Amino acid sequence: MYNRTYVNNNGHLTFNQPSSQFISLYFPINGSEDIIAPLLIDVDVSINGIISYQQYSTGSVLTRATRDINQYFPGLSFTAKCVLVATWDRVAYFYHSGTETSFQVVLISGSDLSFILMNYGDCAVGYNNVQAGYDTINSTAYFKIPG
Ligand SMILES: *[C@@H]1O[C@H](CO)[C@@H](O)[C@H](O)[C@H]1NC(C)=O
Ligand SMILES: *[C@@H]1O[C@H](CO)[C@@H](O)[C@H](O)[C@H]1NC(C)=O
Ligand SMILES: *[C@@H]1O[C@H](CO)[C@@H](O)[C@H](O)[C@H]1NC(C)=O
Repeated sequence: MYNRTYVNNNGHLTFNQPSSQFISLYFPINGSEDIIAPLLIDVDVSINGIISYQQYSTGSVLTRATRDINQYFPGLSFTAKCVLVATWDRVAYFYHSGTETSFQVVLISGSDLSFILMNYGDCAVGYNNVQAGYDTINSTAYFKIPG
């Protein structure tokens, strides 16, 4: 359980401290930080793009999150209590001006359960490898989206 989330430049979230890691290590990292990575890439927002985040504890985003989780996991009777949405909007890959890549991670918590949703818009063809998924401290649990 964490009380704090860092929305890092290079397409990931960490919880104990900010991280500038980009795609140089592959899951399972067997590292000392939990990491949730909708798209672990090398981002340069000084070229273009905006990274933003918003936390919700009431309102239509909670309603939407509750509906989404009950759709994907029917039978849980889940109710979202807290939602964090972090969005990388038309960000450039480092060194490659003109590339635009959009993606989002949504952390949804409630009823002693937590979920991760990853949403993707248009993603530029990468010049380097990319990965998406999550990895925990010492890689006791991890998942890498195939492909
Ligand atoms: C998070 O906040 C709660 C309530 O203030 C506190 O009891 C808990 O120790 C905190 N956890 C961490 C990891 O900081
Ligand atoms: C993970 O790192 C620890 C040291 O922190 C090491 O002892 C262990 O062998 C490593 N496990 C794997 C699977 O690489
Ligand atoms: C991770 O591995 C290190 C070294 O093996 C160990 O000291 C530490 O307690 C482990 N942490 C967790 C959260 O499992």
